Parts: sequence; C-alpha cells; structure tokens
Amino acid sequence: MEASIRMKEFMTYAFAEVDRARDEAQAKGFRIIDFGVGDPTDPLYKGAIKGLQIGAEKYARSGYPSYIGLRDFRVAASEWLERRFGVNADPETQITATAGSKEAIFHFPFSVLNQNDAVLMPSIGYPPYKAGTVFAGCKPVFYSLTEENNFLPQIDEIENVLEKNRKIRLVWINYPNNPTTVMASKDFYRSIIELAQKHNVIVASDEAYTEMYEKEKPHSILEFADDWSNIVVFQSLSKRSNATGLRVGFAVGGKKIINYYRKFRTQLDSGVANAIQEAAVYALRDEGHVAEMRQSYNAKRKVMKSALKSAGFKFWADATFYMWVKVRSGSVQFAKRMLTLDTARKRGINVTPGRMVSLANPADADPYVRLALVPSMEDTKLAAEMLKEYSEHKVLR
Ligand SMILES: Cc1ncc(COP(=O)(O)O)c(C=O)c1O
Repeated sequence: MEASIRMKEFMTYAFAEVDRARDEAQAKGFRIIDFGVGDPTDPLYKGAIKGLQIGAEKYARSGYPSYIGLRDFRVAASEWLERRFGVNADPETQITATAGSKEAIFHFPFSVLNQNDAVLMPSIGYPPYKAGTVFAGCKPVFYSLTEENNFLPQIDEIENVLEKNRKIRLVWINYPNNPTTVMASKDFYRSIIELAQKHNVIVASDEAYTEMYEKEKPHSILEFADDWSNIVVFQSLSKRSNATGLRVGFAVGGKKIINYYRKFRTQLDSGVANAIQEAAVYALRDEGHVAEMRQSYNAKRKVMKSALKSAGFKFWADATFYMWVKVRSGSVQFAKRMLTLDTARKRGINVTPGRMVSLANPADADPYVRLALVPSMEDTKLAAEMLKEYSEHKVLR
C-alpha cells in the first residue's frame, strides 16, 4: 500500500517537524519554552464553556446539524461583522459555518476552481493555501513577500502575474499576516479589489488574526467593496477566544461564492456541532475576553521586544501573536541552537524556522524565525533573560 502521489508531497507537515526536534531536546532533559506552534495556551473563554453546556442541552435531540450553520450562529456572526467592521452580511445568503478556518481554506478551491486552474498566494505563509490548491489539482503561483516591501504584496507584481497567467482564478491574502505580523493598508485592500474585478479572479482573504493587534485595529477586506461578488473571507473563533479546540469559524462573502461553497460542503461533511455553534454565539457576543487576550499578548510582546532589541535583532511585531525575527545563520540552524541554548541549566527555546512557513523558495524565508507568544508570562520572561544573557556571549544571531 502506498500513499497517493499528492499525499507524498505533503508527508511532512511543517509544524510536525518542529515538534519532533523539540521532542528530541526534551528527551535529553532540556526544559523547552515553546514559542513554536501558534496554539494559544490560555483557557477557552468561560462564556463559551457556558454556551457549550447550554447548547448540549438545547440541541440534545436535534440530530445532524444544518450544513450551513444554525441561524443563531449566522446572525451572531453577521452582528459581530457589523459591530467590528461596519459591514452588512446577510446571514441567509452570505455567511456559512466552518469547522475552524484551516479546513475551509484547504477545501474552498474545490467549490469554485477546476483542475489546472492556478491560485496566486504568498511566497511565505500558511501552508494550507498551497496544500488545498495542490489537492484540488490546481497549480500554486506565488507573489513575493520581502523585507524590502515590508512583507506586503506589490500590486504591480500581482497585476503583472495576472496578466501573464490567465489560469489564475483565485488570490489568497492574509492580513494581519502569519508569519510576518504586518497589517495591510486601506489602499492595499482597495487596489487588490480593483485588480480582482478587472481580471475576474476571486480574492480569498484569510482574516484569522484581525482581533490580535496592539493599538491600531486591522481592517477587513469587506469594508472596501460594495460588491462582494468576487470576495470571500475566512474568519475564525480560534485565536479571538482561545478556541482552537472548538473548531469553529465562518466564511462570508458574495452570494454566489457562498452558495457554491455551501453546496460543496454538503458533499464534504455534516455541519459543525450545534453545541459548538452555541458556544461561538456566546463568544461572538462578548468583547471583554477579547480585550483581555490582547492585553496578555501585548504584555508578552513588550517583554520579548525589549529582549530582542537589546540582543540586537531586527524584528517585526505589528499584530497577530507572532514575532518575525531576522537571524544571521540559517533559520533551521538557529532554531536548533535555541533548543539547547542554556546548556548549564538545561533550558532552551523552541521557535519556528522561516523555512517551514515558506511556500515557494525556502531560501526566501531562511533568514527569519517566527516566535508565537504562547508561553506563560513567567516563561516569556525566562526566555527573554536567556536571550539577553546569551547574546552577550555572542552565541546568538
Ligand atoms: C494564517 C492562518 N489562517 C488560518 C488559521 C487556522 O486557524 P483555525 O483553523 O484554528 O481557524 C491559522 C492557524 O494558525 C493561521 O495561522
């Protein structure tokens, strides 16, 4: 028995590799402070737990959930979009429930693309953009995210690529950006919408991190178009409410796109569990816990910013819960060094090598590593001390 040819291309999921390296260091007795995978360690919002309990009772006899999501959930999502971004999304036709955004991002191409169509995506970014494209039998094409351009796609470059490659039917964008942390300007969103309309391509905007920011609130692409016919946004409760374990989010966009996507999903699964949607309703109606989440990451970001600055690193930490740090040695080499940084006290730090979030040419992402600010404040301070101490000995960077 063999894995499929496409599967073989993806046999090592990037983050699994990081986990393995960490496990080896731990087996040698090192205590690793884990800034690797972007999974919050703070508990799920309490109100969502209450929602889960209420939902379990309320829907005890409801059988399979609806494919498109409970009306209550779609209405809560629509009201949240209105409060947060000032946009009107019709819960009947423009919103559909998803089991978090990862699976939705992966599957979405199946609903609107044909084999051999092409998908434009960032050269450095979230791996499912590429995996979903390849498994759907389409071709990934890349726009470059570079330090010189502050990791923002250049509209001229995108236009050029769209003009040359008429097979491109979909463009992925992701701001605030994983891994580079940068945010997109209003002008960027306006320009990409204009381009997409001109070239008749869909813009898929992954907005998983819009609620993680320091001061300036990130925008949604939805704010900048009256006509959403070629726009789809993927939102998620995962980071907003420490709800990665719940698996709930939603897609919102043009009526036709959402209709096709809903139809596709009737082939795929049987909806998101009702109790989980009820939990999401409770979470979407509360902003207090979201402000607390931001405060907690901002405090940790401050500690690490100061440590990285005094150790002489160049870094980006605009939004999301990541820090994108420039390193002199290759990213994998640097990450390995960090795992066993303090040999005397058997302590180390786990970071994600840039290489592992590269979708095109790994060398482009190699001078960087990504830190996810998920360890506790106590461990973050410990890591900051380690960084300062060892940079004085000139063993870092
Ligand atoms: C850029 C980006 N999009 C989407 C997701 C998916 O999150 P979830 O499936 O938990 O909604 C992640 C998760 O880390 C991410 O980094």
